[in-house]
Amino acid sequence: MRFQSQKVAYYFFATCMLLLSLQIVYGFIMAFAHMGYDVLHNVIPFNTARTTHTNLLVVWLLTGFMGAAYYIIPEESGRELYSVPLAYLQLGALVIVGVVAIIGFHFNYWEGRKFLEIPRPLDYLVVVDVLLFLLNIGMTIWQGKRHSTTSLVLFFGLLMAALLYLPGMIDTDNQTLDSYWRWWVVHLWVEGVWELIMGAILSFLLIKLTGIDREIIEKWLYVIVGFTFLSGVLGTGHHYYYIGTPKYWLLVGGVFSALEPVAFLGMAIYAITMARKGGRTHPNQNALSWTVGCSVMSFVGAGFLGFAHTLPQVNLYTHGTLITAMHGHMAFWGAYAMLVLGIIAYAMPLLTGRKLHDTTTATFAFWTSNIGMIAMTLAFAVAGISQVVLERRVGLDFLTVQKELQVHFFGLTLAATLFTVGIAAYIVNFIRYGLPVGEVTPEQPGSDS
Ligand code: HEM
Ligand code: HEM
Ligand SMILES: [Fe+2]
Repeated sequence: MRFQSQKVAYYFFATCMLLLSLQIVYGFIMAFAHMGYDVLHNVIPFNTARTTHTNLLVVWLLTGFMGAAYYIIPEESGRELYSVPLAYLQLGALVIVGVVAIIGFHFNYWEGRKFLEIPRPLDYLVVVDVLLFLLNIGMTIWQGKRHSTTSLVLFFGLLMAALLYLPGMIDTDNQTLDSYWRWWVVHLWVEGVWELIMGAILSFLLIKLTGIDREIIEKWLYVIVGFTFLSGVLGTGHHYYYIGTPKYWLLVGGVFSALEPVAFLGMAIYAITMARKGGRTHPNQNALSWTVGCSVMSFVGAGFLGFAHTLPQVNLYTHGTLITAMHGHMAFWGAYAMLVLGIIAYAMPLLTGRKLHDTTTATFAFWTSNIGMIAMTLAFAVAGISQVVLERRVGLDFLTVQKELQVHFFGLTLAATLFTVGIAAYIVNFIRYGLPVGEVTPEQPGSDS
């Protein structure tokens, strides 16, 4: 690493590892409940497990984005972080808010709005925390030696993500309006501003790992990501089909969301091309696997599987079923989980000075977690298609169908176990790296690696 203060990223990454592990535990609780073994029902009912699972996901990804920013921004700006104590304070506060929220979920202290369950008073604390974070990286960029496109896009993406949290806090008794605003956060995050964050982190990784000119990487990546972003804004309409909003959303949502996969495909082709052109020489091939893997799996999960249920004629039947869970897993995994695991895989050898990136464990972690996630997604798909046919076409009762689906969750649990073995290997490798040493390597003139 170039600057002492980049070290703070390590503690954000370590928090990610903890929260990801906990997220998986709650995934298994639900998988067992789906198999008919809802043994923890009285302590952790399904809705509590689900909320905890998805909120832990969002929190660890945001923690990962913050860690990534604390690593990337000093390096891109050519200076130490504006304030290291502020970064630690902000991490501590985030963890405390997260822990209180999660304990709260177990005592019915929540809002009950999917993905935005965190109770209102804690929402305000989240906003303050994110503002402190933005202040820290904003000042670093402001006082920096250079303002690279990558750092500006990263900052803008994070700023917009914070601002878009606010519409989700608009108070209303109207169910349709409540849903309407909820999607401003959920959809415009994952299919909007988070993609800017993704574009910036991918740019940084591709610049470092392929050695190809920054100008070329940045220009094309942002054109492609920009297109995804633009189709994604009106693509919000794919959540407004049948919730009581005007009819024109059927057309707007259908057309624009159908365009979103094209850009994801472009991003995958582009990342593969760049890696093939310049990626063979960099020692950290494992980080390159995560980077290219992220672009490919996000196309499959978000683009391809998103398209599978985005047309109104299809969504009429698939809405809110396990088809949604199928897409949700692969999309979040491909686009954002792999992105965070990619930047961690890149940064760890540089933060700790230990070269564990080419170990068997690291390679094993990449392949096993990905194969496990593909298998899990397939299991969700089979269960989801069965559910749609039996419940929505044949017209069987919801709970009768859930019983029929139990068998599919045996397969899902096996797949999830494979996935977990892969993640465990990743975490073992992370632990083996040890703590950051803070050894600073000076920038080579004319080099970007
Ligand atoms: C990285 C990007 C993406 C992520 C992380 C993601 C994740 C998710 C998640 C978690 C949900 C469930 C949300 C909820 O019910 O509260 C969802 C719903 C949905 N997504 Fe995505 N998605 C992404 C991109 C896309 C794309 C590109 C498309 C279309 C081409 C798409 C189409 C849909 C549709 C139609 C729904 C609604 C499903 C329903 O009616 O139940 N998604 N997505
Ligand atoms: C061992 C691993 C995991 C298992 C067993 C598991 C299982 C589950 C189950 C059973 C559900 C609830 C489906 C329903 O509503 O009936 C769920 C929801 C969800 N999980 Fe996982 N999960 C695992 C890991 C992950 C990971 C790594 C991610 C993200 C990268 C993830 C993202 C999600 C999302 C976004 C939802 C909500 C989907 C929706 O809106 O319908 N899960 N998970
Ligand atoms: Fe969406």
